[in-house]
Amino acid sequence: MTGNALVLAIKSGGHNWSPARWKQRFSTACHNRKVVVLPDETCPPDEVSYAAVWKPAPGILGTFPNLRVIFNLGAGVDALMADPTLPRVPVVRVVVDDLTARMTEYVVLHVLLHHRRQLQLLKDQRDRLWQPQHQWAAGALTVGIMGLGNLGRDAAQVLKRLGFRIAGWGATPKSIDGITCFAGSDGLGPFLRKTNILVCLLPLTSDTRHILNRSLFAQLDRTSPLGAPVLINAGRGGLQVEADVLSCLEDGTLGAATLDVFETEPLPAQSPLWSAPNLVITPHNAADTDPDAISAYIAAQIDRFEAGEPLQNLVDVTRGY
Ligand code: GLV
Repeated sequence: MTGNALVLAIKSGGHNWSPARWKQRFSTACHNRKVVVLPDETCPPDEVSYAAVWKPAPGILGTFPNLRVIFNLGAGVDALMADPTLPRVPVVRVVVDDLTARMTEYVVLHVLLHHRRQLQLLKDQRDRLWQPQHQWAAGALTVGIMGLGNLGRDAAQVLKRLGFRIAGWGATPKSIDGITCFAGSDGLGPFLRKTNILVCLLPLTSDTRHILNRSLFAQLDRTSPLGAPVLINAGRGGLQVEADVLSCLEDGTLGAATLDVFETEPLPAQSPLWSAPNLVITPHNAADTDPDAISAYIAAQIDRFEAGEPLQNLVDVTRGY
């Protein structure tokens, strides 16, 4: 029998994670549906119809024989896709304005930080130096965004409004107003040769793993007033070759970078990245998920599904994102 329960399986990010708060939000949003927080609570496995998960323990979703839909509680589904025992049921990603807006804030913050030479100004302040920096217009730079899903498009639009030229690159051709779009391996070189600030929001798949490497960085444009190009990666750590990011910052192939994500998280204390020149490190903190926004989104999706309407924002499991 199916008891229509929803299980929540969330790997704690170590901050702000309150299982009781998430459970309460989901119970309310899902019209008092039974909500079970794993691994602390248990429920007869055959009563579970839905799972809302973030990096669940591999294998755990396969233990629910009547599971109907998996909801990933974040934008990136790479952790789920890596589980070979993942049940063959629809997987839905989170697309909520709240998360999109947070990511756009992060991208805009770091684009502006590098564009306005804020690292130099902070250093000058520490050294008690009054040293105005040359200021160029946003329109003198092209921000190149890798990954033109919901997050990439929104950041592109806000940056465009600030005056930057915007280029975009993705696996498949797209046409977006005001953005010069490139696609596939043929489009990558021309995209890079236009780009001064590279923002990476790609999903991590076998095709994109380690795409951010020295040979890619060497193709970025160096002729803008910024000089050496800048990298901002808020996608996944597996997209970057960290030794290449480090050596490219050291030899000037990259002028500066911001990384929110790393191959190993937390970034180990002994990592040489901590002291890399002109590197801003943030602790996978670009865009948190808010239990209110996400529980409302998932409840609405379950209502649609139970009314026989199609689920939205389905993950293409063969493509991996
Ligand atoms: C966070 O990393 C997410 O994928 O939402």
